Amino acid sequence: MKNKADLKKITCLGAGYVGGPTMAVMADRCNSIEITIVDLNQSKVDLWNSEDLSNLPVFEPGLASIIKKVRGKNLFFSSDIQKAISEADIIFISVNTPTKTSGYGAGFASDLKWVESSARTIANFATGHTIVVEKSTVPVKTAEVIKTILNYNQNYDAKKSFSILSNPEFLAEGTAINDLENPDRVLIGGNDSDAIESLSLIYEHWVSKEKIIKTNLWSSELSKLAANAFLAQRISSINAIGAICESTGANVREVKLAIGSDKRIGERFLNAGPGFGGSCFQKDLLNMVYLSKYYGLNEVANYWEQVLILNNWQKSRISKLVVDKLFGTLNGKKIAILGFAFKANTNDTRESSAIKITKELLTEGAEIVIHDPKVTKDQIKKDLEKNEGKDPKQKESNSFWWFSKDYEEIFKNSDAIIILTEWEEYKTLNWKFYTNLMRKPSWIFDSRSIVNPKEMKNLGIKLWRIGDGTLD
Ligand SMILES: NC(=O)c1ccc[n+]([C@@H]2O[C@H](COP(=O)([O-])OP(=O)(O)OC[C@H]3O[C@@H](n4cnc5c(N)ncnc54)[C@H](O)[C@@H]3O)[C@@H](O)[C@H]2O)c1
Repeated sequence: MKNKADLKKITCLGAGYVGGPTMAVMADRCNSIEITIVDLNQSKVDLWNSEDLSNLPVFEPGLASIIKKVRGKNLFFSSDIQKAISEADIIFISVNTPTKTSGYGAGFASDLKWVESSARTIANFATGHTIVVEKSTVPVKTAEVIKTILNYNQNYDAKKSFSILSNPEFLAEGTAINDLENPDRVLIGGNDSDAIESLSLIYEHWVSKEKIIKTNLWSSELSKLAANAFLAQRISSINAIGAICESTGANVREVKLAIGSDKRIGERFLNAGPGFGGSCFQKDLLNMVYLSKYYGLNEVANYWEQVLILNNWQKSRISKLVVDKLFGTLNGKKIAILGFAFKANTNDTRESSAIKITKELLTEGAEIVIHDPKVTKDQIKKDLEKNEGKDPKQKESNSFWWFSKDYEEIFKNSDAIIILTEWEEYKTLNWKFYTNLMRKPSWIFDSRSIVNPKEMKNLGIKLWRIGDGTLD
């Protein structure tokens, strides 16, 4: 077995939102280590290798400049999975783990088919001793599955051996590079102290030792689910308070200030909004619900499920109030949606509130123009067609949607603007000029607290703002 500090080759399976940025930062901070990121999706690999850095498959502030620095030096993107596995000392599994859509646990449990196939490929092609790191978010006890697959092969080939570690990723999209460069903590779970030490030494290139938490495998796997459950719970909590504010004349921004300044609560993650999105919160909460039910903890399952129920209600609440304010019908009305990504500074639309809200408004007969600075029209098309089987344009109602980056076209003759993503450029729009192009009465539905209510009042715009019970 190699010396812990001699581990020089890392392979990462999965060149997605986690694999790409995580390995880019690791390569940048560990010049003596060679990292290869492999993916089954050849076109994704090609995009990571493309000359045009504005075309990377993942948009993250600061990512392109790191890729420029390390790509071709000690960071490589490839689809030659066999070669990358056979040469690696450490292999990170950073593949997708979406919610199962059919079979046992459908709608709740994670689909581990990509993790399982990663383990099988590693078992086939690894050579010598390999440390296998679970980077994907997985149900508790998944390491057991990986271990069983790897050990089975190890028994047939005495030259192979494996250590399995859990090292969940806590980055948030939109701030991934900063989160990776300055993590609150790095979590390593396992029971092989040598392997834990080896992985820890890699992080110690840029993370202080005190921030590296070492636990057993199951605590590490559960901590990732628990962290996302707590974060999602805060969002549903503040959204629930926001709804009460709207009914009572209170203002959720003031309530946030008042409760957030209590150190026991803290000010972060307390912004009311259109409901959480992203690939993780819903999936990990569903996983938690499934896990709790599996162990017969039905009250625990119901508790976490309620966070999700509130989140779905929040999205539909917004669609419903748009219909109500626009005299109960959207037929023949033009509505503009500003922001389709699930949050600012990412091109990720997975589980974005904009998908559900747009679909609901289309069903009401609206004509919808969609804007987003980073999401492509093709992505929006895929999202709106998902589970529908046909283009929303062809549905029974007369509704349709189109994509535009031209604000004049977007605002012209619009009845309402709905702000769903907190992109910086929306904050600095020339609202006076653009709202003047709208049909009267003109509405703005601000689910991200972007616009200035006084300015809107002076412009004669009717405003609904999330959690604001003080507007007339
Ligand atoms: N996105 C986030 O913010 C975030 C944060 C923390 C943790 N996570 C977790 O990290 C994991 C990955 O998430 P993501 O957002 O990067 O997913 P993603 O869908 O963006 O990327 C996963 C990639 O893995 C590839 N892949 C699947 N099977 C493969 C295989 N056998 N070999 C090689 N490549 C393979 C897919 O083609 C895809 O490109 C998930 O478990 C997720 O829950 C995500």
